[in-house]
Amino acid sequence: MPILLETTPNVDIELLEERHQHFVRLIHALEKVSVQNREEVRSVFSDIMAYVKQHFLAEEHLMQEMNYPNGKEHKLVHQHFVERISLLYEQFERGEKIRDELLSMLKAWFVLHIQHEDMAYMYFYRLMYDAT
Ligand SMILES: [Fe+2]
Ligand SMILES: [Fe+2]
Repeated sequence: MPILLETTPNVDIELLEERHQHFVRLIHALEKVSVQNREEVRSVFSDIMAYVKQHFLAEEHLMQEMNYPNGKEHKLVHQHFVERISLLYEQFERGEKIRDELLSMLKAWFVLHIQHEDMAYMYFYRLMYDAT
């Protein structure tokens, strides 16, 4: 079932919200590829990996800039997720059909992570900037 843009948690730091929406578009792209078409799966999977890493770096940079107190823990959650999708990528390269597992993992993780960890630093950001 596709993730609707309107149903994803709303992060109102404009740039990061835009990036989360792009992440949703990548998940949709993965959903549309045929499991049988390994080249297509590989291409979308690579885009997702690159995008996830880039997005995490941007968030970590922002958290560091604003001295976010839970920055280290948040970074660890990111690292753990990168490890999980990297393992799945290895399985894919060994010839396993991982598209559906990757999809479920991305959907479940994406919503939970935004609702919890990303929302937490967003509130901190708001507090800081509302106070100035
Ligand atoms: Fe995020
Ligand atoms: Fe995050």
